[in-house]
Amino acid sequence: MSDLIPVTLIPGDGIGPEIIASTLEILETIKAPFQWDKQLAGMAAVDASGDPLPQQTIDSIHKTGLALKGPLTTPVGKGFRSINVTLRKEFGLYANVRPTRTLIPGGRFENVDIVLVRENLEGFYAAMEHYIPVGDDPKAIATCAGYTSRTECRRIVKYAFDYAVKNNRKKVTLVHKANILKELCGLFLEEGRKVAKEYEGKIACEERIVDACAMELVLKPETYDVIVTTNLFGDILSDLTSGLIGGLGMPPGANIGEKAAMFEAVHGSAPDIAGKNMANPLAVLRASAMMLEYVNRVDLAKRIESAIEKVVVHDKVRTKDLGGNASTSDMTAALKRAIA
Ligand code: NAI
Repeated sequence: MSDLIPVTLIPGDGIGPEIIASTLEILETIKAPFQWDKQLAGMAAVDASGDPLPQQTIDSIHKTGLALKGPLTTPVGKGFRSINVTLRKEFGLYANVRPTRTLIPGGRFENVDIVLVRENLEGFYAAMEHYIPVGDDPKAIATCAGYTSRTECRRIVKYAFDYAVKNNRKKVTLVHKANILKELCGLFLEEGRKVAKEYEGKIACEERIVDACAMELVLKPETYDVIVTTNLFGDILSDLTSGLIGGLGMPPGANIGEKAAMFEAVHGSAPDIAGKNMANPLAVLRASAMMLEYVNRVDLAKRIESAIEKVVVHDKVRTKDLGGNASTSDMTAALKRAIA
């Protein structure tokens, strides 16, 4: 019997196939124990079958419980569901984990090492929206009803604290807006405080109102460790934390559920540079390193992180977004040499 772990592989759209191909070359070099089941989603799937998220792709993830995904272009226009939201719901991927760490010294911010844990299923992204007509204007008022559940608040905060324990972190910051959204965010804070008590003496806990947190993140980002927050705030703050370390080319993301997990770059399909051999492959490569950690191959994940550091920091092989002139293939070749 094979010891390989089956993984659904979705190359994705735009720069997706280029950066996934680069990652696969590196995973092959270190003999990562994965067996790929290649499936389509996004525009590639629309072109092939008219459906941006074919049932076959969903079935594959149900079977493997693991997916490595390139960015997907969500087709503009009515009739298409948001693919990412559908995937999160279908597989109950409740925790979105986005680590951001300073790699190249001399940037605007030094010593950033923040892991943002975002609740992925509830809040305002439950998309319970509608218009209320007034007079002859059918869209006079727009409303959106967000919700949080006690169970989900508890589960996401607990995930963040467990993550902190497992990864030798010292502090978790609960980020909320309970001063204004007294029930929606109040419940998150109430449950968060209860969970924090269970980790007293092991992991410190702080609380921040989201607007104050945004300001502190650009004034003294080095004081943050693990952040846990609700869906909308997490979406916004995780782009902010990506900006702190020089943009979207580097940060990976994991979407974790009880029965499945999906790993991807934080960035999108970058249509402006697609097919030009210019894309930075590091975010999706780091996502594959998170997947290696998830399957308990921390040794291989560490080799990837060390090779990235050698190539980008010491040898200064950098793509254009990092201020260099290396192509995707130059960087892939350098990484393969560094990791072999
Ligand atoms: P984007 O992240 O694709 O691009 C924003 C900017 O960052 C562009 O200038 C792009 O060239 C640059 N960039 C992104 N990744 C890069 C990389 N690896 N190397 C070098 N430069 C990089 O965001 P945008 O343009 O708003 O979205 C494009 C498409 O991607 C949309 O259809 C959107 O829906 C989709 N998207 C998909 C996501 C996913 O599948 N998880 C996440 C975000 C957006």
